[in-house]
Amino acid sequence: AKDVGILAMDIYFPPTCVLQEELETHDGVSKGKYTIGLGQDSMAFCTDVEDVISMSLTVVKSLLKNYNIDPKCIGRLEVGSETVIDKSKSIKTWLMQIFEEYGNTDIEGVDSSNACYGGTAALFNCVNWVESNSWDGRYGLVVCTDSAVYAEGPARPTGGAAAIAMLIGPNAPISFESKYRGSHMAHAYDFYKPDLASEYPVVDGKLSQTCYLMALDSCYNVFCKKYEKHEGKQFSIFDADYVVFHSPYNKLVQKSFARLCYNDFLRNCSTVDEESREKLAPYAGLSSEESYQSRDLEKASQQVAKNLYESKVQPTTLIPKQVGNMYTASLYAAFASVIYNRHETLAGQRIVMFSYGSGLTSTMFSFKINEGEHPFSLLNIANVLDVSKKLEARHVVPPKKFVEALKLMEHRYGAKDFVTSQDTSLLPAGTYYLTHVDSMYRRFYAAK
Ligand code: ACO
Repeated sequence: AKDVGILAMDIYFPPTCVLQEELETHDGVSKGKYTIGLGQDSMAFCTDVEDVISMSLTVVKSLLKNYNIDPKCIGRLEVGSETVIDKSKSIKTWLMQIFEEYGNTDIEGVDSSNACYGGTAALFNCVNWVESNSWDGRYGLVVCTDSAVYAEGPARPTGGAAAIAMLIGPNAPISFESKYRGSHMAHAYDFYKPDLASEYPVVDGKLSQTCYLMALDSCYNVFCKKYEKHEGKQFSIFDADYVVFHSPYNKLVQKSFARLCYNDFLRNCSTVDEESREKLAPYAGLSSEESYQSRDLEKASQQVAKNLYESKVQPTTLIPKQVGNMYTASLYAAFASVIYNRHETLAGQRIVMFSYGSGLTSTMFSFKINEGEHPFSLLNIANVLDVSKKLEARHVVPPKKFVEALKLMEHRYGAKDFVTSQDTSLLPAGTYYLTHVDSMYRRFYAAK
């Protein structure tokens, strides 16, 4: 199979959101902390009728319909998620309901999980399958679905929720440049979920930021080396038309891109201009440990990166700034943003992706883009994503309501024998929702 990659995409996020500005007031933090400090505008969340299973059902159904895909043509289905609803039964098995109805039960794949990296693991599994001897000619389907919720405190504004579905096959408009993948995997306690009675993670915020940047440096170095070995020339950030990051909050994305520019300076790339060299020169001798702590370096590299950030990163930030951290879906929602914003000019371009999951696992990889052919064209993908309309259709909920919703979910997490509010007034037609959980913990969903 040639040019294996993403043929089609769809996204779903809950119709309810809270404004970060209002959350600042509600939480009693200084004005600007979440909006400027974290760089976030609003945050989506699930009410009691939605969860990672309902969102994944919604997005799979929607993708199949929007691209007119026969459910019998799916041969592999992989789910990435870090939201645990059942320690044994995979989310994938719930999604099988859609395919069983069409007599298709011959579908490989289960769930992958490691924090926000599970979606990337699922994507690689599907791509590897299509490229392998066991491929039977059918499509792969990848679903990333998460509801990111944190206990009260500084991490709470970095939540979010969404599900993304991606159809995988050959001759794709978004194809993998598999030769250049660079990974960094290590043991760390930066963010983890050891308490099985709670949906909330245990998080060492500062450590998670440093782990993220260290992983980024390491992946970028491996990525560049592999590129250089293959192409016989140096890679610099100028060889990427867009850089897409896993986006827990926008400020980290700004810092990450600046970090790549600092890396180019350290690697003595010919693309780094004289002015940038002068600005970064004072930091050339820092140990890597020191470099993660230096506020001055952070400022200088962000200054150096500013214009490039506007052209190469800003178009990727639309959904993450409006929806928040979507964990496994975060990177792909950022990617969907650039497809949506720039589909007219993407053909022939390269998009570099950085996936990070705490604990920790991370990979940098890249896509080559072409126009594609209907229904798998960039234009059609952008039309299906329909991001602006979906964002505008949302309902802004006051922080008090958001906190109440989270309290109710805390209570319901791992519970049995309850009926949800079944309030579907805000859900678009076709959206799946949770109706009840019976005395055997079995969950029941319906479509609006
Ligand atoms: N106006 C403007 N900026 C402000 C203001 C203000 N009034 N107040 C604070 N800020 C700035 C700070 O200077 C800081 O910016 P900086 O990083 O450039 O210095 C930023 O806002 C955040 O303020 P902090 O005091 O550093 O925030 P805090 O430590 O309270 O929480 C954190 C931030 C650690 C990100 C927390 O939200 C968290 O733990 N989130 C979850 C972990 C996470 O997302 N990690 C990322 C990678 S792992 C993953 O994806 C889960």
